[in-house]
Amino acid sequence: MTGPIRRIAINTGGGDAPGLNAVIRAAVTAAVNRGWEAVGIRDGFNGILLPERYPNGGVVPLTRDRVRGISHLGGTILGTTNKGNPFHFPTPQRDGSVVDTDRSDELLAYFRHHGIDALISVGGDGSLTIANELHRKGLRVVGVPKTIDNDLDKTFTTFGFDTAVSFATECLDRLHSTAESHQRVMVVEVMGRYAGWIALHAGIAGGAHACLIPEIAFDLEKVAAKIRERDAEGRMYTLVVVAEGAQARHGQRAVLAPAEIGHAERLGGIGEQIAVELGHMTGKDARVVVLGHLLRGGSPTSFDRLAALRFGSAAVRALEEGLSGVMVALAFPNVNYVSLEEVAGRMKAVPLDCDTLQTGRDLGMCFGD
Ligand code: F6P
Repeated sequence: MTGPIRRIAINTGGGDAPGLNAVIRAAVTAAVNRGWEAVGIRDGFNGILLPERYPNGGVVPLTRDRVRGISHLGGTILGTTNKGNPFHFPTPQRDGSVVDTDRSDELLAYFRHHGIDALISVGGDGSLTIANELHRKGLRVVGVPKTIDNDLDKTFTTFGFDTAVSFATECLDRLHSTAESHQRVMVVEVMGRYAGWIALHAGIAGGAHACLIPEIAFDLEKVAAKIRERDAEGRMYTLVVVAEGAQARHGQRAVLAPAEIGHAERLGGIGEQIAVELGHMTGKDARVVVLGHLLRGGSPTSFDRLAALRFGSAAVRALEEGLSGVMVALAFPNVNYVSLEEVAGRMKAVPLDCDTLQTGRDLGMCFGD
C-alpha cells in the first residue's frame, strides 16, 4: 500500500504486558494530531477474523477521548490473544478437530475495504513475525516490541520487562525474611519462556543465592552444595530463583501443555520439581512460589510507561516518514528503527559473557554449573 495515510489500525497480540495502554495512547494521540483516524482491532486480529464474537464491533474507533488517562493501566483496552495467528488460524471442524487455515488474505482485504492504510502491531516475537509476513504481503506495518520476557532481538529492552523484574525483586525481598525465619529453601519460579532475563535481573537485584536460567543447563547437586555451604556458614536459608524454561543438564524442560495450532507450548512446573528434589537432597524444608501471571499484571513502572509512550509515538513518526516493515527499538539514548526481518523468529538469550551474569558470579550466586 502506498499513498498518504488517513486511517491507521492498532492491535495488541500475544501475552499482555504492562505498558500496552501507554503505547495505544501515544500512538492514537500522535496519529490524531496529524489529522489521521485511528481504529483498534480487538483481541489480536480476532476482531476482524471472528466478527460474530463482537456484537459491538471487532474494530473500534480510537479517539483522543477513548485513550485519555490509560497510560498507567495494566492490560490492554483492545484485548489480546495468543491463539489468533492469521497465517495459522485455528478453524474448528464439525468433527471436533481443528484445522490450520491461512486467513491473511481476508485480513488484507478487510484493510483495503475499510480504508485502513497502515497497521501498528504491538507484540512479542510471534506478533512481530506475523507483522513481518503482512508487510511482505504489501501492508504498511510498524511493530512495537512488547514482552515481559525481554527476549526480542535488536532492541535494548522491551516494555513490560522492567515491571516484571521490579515485581519479582519485591517478592524476593519479602521472601528473605520468611525463609530465614523458618530456615527454609524457597524456590521462586518466574516466567520468561526460553530466556532467563527476568530470573537473572530479579535474582541479582533481589539477592537470590542461586539462579537457574535456560541458557545454563543446571546440575542440581551444585545448588544443593550451595545450600549446604550456606548452612555451614550459619546462613540457614537459601533463595533459588528459577526461570520457567530452565532445564537440568540431563533433564527435560517442564511443559504444562504442548503446542497447538497457532499457539506455543505452555511452560511451567520446574519450580515444584526442584523444590521437591532439593528437599530430598538437603533434608531441608523447601517451598515453591510461582509468580506466573502476577508478573504480567498491574501498572507499568515509570521506565516501562515512558518506553511505551516513546514507542507509540515513534511508530507514528515511522509511518509518517514512509517506513514499513520496521520495528521501533530502544537504542539508548534514543529510539531507532530496525527491520522486522531482523527481528522475526529470533530470540535474544542472555549472553553467557554479559556483565550482569558475571556480577551474579562475583556476588557468589550459584548458576547450577
Ligand atoms: O511471553 C510472555 C509470557 O508471559 C511468558 O513468559 C509465558 O511463558 C507465557 O507468556 C505464558 O502465556 P499464557 O498466558 O498463554 O499462559
